[in-house]
Amino acid sequence: MDQVRIFDTTLRDGEQSPGCSMNLEEKIEVAHCLERLKVDIIEAGFAIVSPGDFESVKTIAENVKDCTVASLARCNPKDIDAAWEAVKGAADPRIHVFLATSPLHMEYKLKMSPEAVLEQIGAMVAYAKKYCSNIEFSAEDATRSETEFLKKAVTIALENGATTINLPDTVGYTTPDEMERLIRTVKEDVRGAEKAVFSVHCHDDLGMATANSLAGVRGGARQIECTLNGLGERAGNTSMEEVVMALRTRRDEFKVDTGIDTTQIHRASTTVYNTIGQTAPINKPIVGKNAFAHEAGIHQHGVMAKKETYEIMTPESIGLHINNLVLGKHSGRHAVGQRLEELGYELSRDELNRCFEEFKVICDKKKNITDADLEAIVNHNTQNLYNDSDDIYKLEWFQASTSNFTTATCTVCLTKDGEKLENVALGDGPIDAAYKAIDEIIQPSEHSFDIFNIHSISEGKDTLGDVTVKITAHGRTFTGRGLSTDILEASINAYLKGVNRLLAYEKKVQQ
Ligand code: KIV
Ligand code: ZN
Repeated sequence: MDQVRIFDTTLRDGEQSPGCSMNLEEKIEVAHCLERLKVDIIEAGFAIVSPGDFESVKTIAENVKDCTVASLARCNPKDIDAAWEAVKGAADPRIHVFLATSPLHMEYKLKMSPEAVLEQIGAMVAYAKKYCSNIEFSAEDATRSETEFLKKAVTIALENGATTINLPDTVGYTTPDEMERLIRTVKEDVRGAEKAVFSVHCHDDLGMATANSLAGVRGGARQIECTLNGLGERAGNTSMEEVVMALRTRRDEFKVDTGIDTTQIHRASTTVYNTIGQTAPINKPIVGKNAFAHEAGIHQHGVMAKKETYEIMTPESIGLHINNLVLGKHSGRHAVGQRLEELGYELSRDELNRCFEEFKVICDKKKNITDADLEAIVNHNTQNLYNDSDDIYKLEWFQASTSNFTTATCTVCLTKDGEKLENVALGDGPIDAAYKAIDEIIQPSEHSFDIFNIHSISEGKDTLGDVTVKITAHGRTFTGRGLSTDILEASINAYLKGVNRLLAYEKKVQQ
């Protein structure tokens, strides 16, 4: 069957949107998820943007073996040089150059005449081609460009060696019919178009990104650019999980395949949400909590009689194993390891040991450990790529007092090199008091406090609270996560982890 390539831009278009920034470790973790998903192309970043972006594109390029790795570049030599420097160590590098072709963008943003734009496209595709055989050209704002001009831009890009032509719906403006027509017309009318792969890149401003991407495929596109969970500028990009599962579930309609291992979708989606400290809206297609839940009696009855009555895909097809089997404090390491394997997690011995230690601690507070709890424990331990033993400060104990008629106080006792350090602070609630007490002990460098997110892992009053904290200092983001049935403890651990990571970074750069 005809194959559609999946080009993932979670680490570029997704990461550049507000509240979604990731540090290097987190980007590497997401890149591993993308490799397990078997995406065809990973757009690892925009190398010229900052030294941090350059470093992450380069590291991903050098570590990912089974996918093409791309860096974005504007149509100028400096951007292209940086992109090449960053991706040249990849097994299959790609340079992705873009220039806007719509009248609005050319006149007001680029302040360039249409002739100059065409000339720049030709010159810069040729410039990139000297470095790399695999060149993608994107005509930014293609869907608001004049079709005849767009054809000229594509012709020039092809003549100068572009191997992929992307026609983005940059502002999420187009409709499925228009997208199908645009791809078909450009492919039919441009000489040499058959030598290139045509691509769609849609934004979701009007909620049509998935439909528009699928329509692009009908028109002849054989690459879809998308992000996990639909992260991206404004309303986001096309959600990878949606287009992939639509193509798979409606193979009869689209008659194309992707190479994606869909059983990795649930895990990859969770990893990305954990990384940015968010959770999926409950009704989000494919990855939302309710996507496979059948609450209404009439639906439950139908599903029990025959799954297909209300289920068009199985939860297992995205790697979600709905299971009522619960583990508890009498379950051994082997049982925990086995259940994790069934859930699709292949852990190293060391990772399993860390997870089992945390499992036992949680069992003392929570009777039944569900699959969701187990997955949270794994994500918590395997995403903390940084070793706990590197923590300079550890939590010994804390005690908080709070009410609705007095100011909250929290006493925190930390240890550093075996020495106990105790402090008490007042705050606007116990979490604020605890964080102030910690700050007064550690006195970390000035940082911004960007994200505090708390969510519950499962149902029930004894659910685990999962807290993510992100702080920024020295232009870097440091993430900490805490998991506990006690949300204050989870919050303290998350902040302490973030601060310990900041301290570890400062120690490293001083060496
Ligand atoms: O939305 C867009 O047009 C882009 C391009 C840079 C591909 O992200
Ligand atoms: Zn985009």
